[in-house]
Amino acid sequence: MENHHMFNKKIADALNKQILMEAQSSQAYLAMGSWAEIQPGLKGVTAFFFKHSDEERMHMLKLIHFVNERGGFAVVPELKQPNLTFVSLKKAFEELLNHELAVSASINDLVELALAQKDYATHNFLQWYVMEQMEEEKLARECNEKLEMIGDDRSGLYLFDRDIVAAGR
Ligand code: FEO
Repeated sequence: MENHHMFNKKIADALNKQILMEAQSSQAYLAMGSWAEIQPGLKGVTAFFFKHSDEERMHMLKLIHFVNERGGFAVVPELKQPNLTFVSLKKAFEELLNHELAVSASINDLVELALAQKDYATHNFLQWYVMEQMEEEKLARECNEKLEMIGDDRSGLYLFDRDIVAAGR
């Protein structure tokens, strides 16, 4: 059924893809949290990953409500199993950064689509995600830089784990 009151289908489909991406992000960071939780001395990092997973779920929920409130239907997606184990904390944070870069690219594509479709409400809604991605990329980059410096230094890792709780706020 097509009528002019219905939500633009291209936009609805793209937002549903973003819902999948946020859900997959939440799942990926949940797995990082579970992995970190069984490593010695990573209490702070564990809390960071679990909190980050919760934030991604919140990003997903915001999208779900937006799609439904605009007259679309938000589809709860099937998820694939994320990476469960990591050879090092550095590897986990590299994956986190790469993941965030992919999310940013996807948000940017959505912004472009919203403009092309003259959907200014969606364009405006997406600005929050644009800012959020800037923050998340920055934090992920900083973590990677610190871990690069720390290498295998145990006391460095201790401080990293202690400080990341504050950095995640
Ligand atoms: Fe919601 Fe970190 O992407």
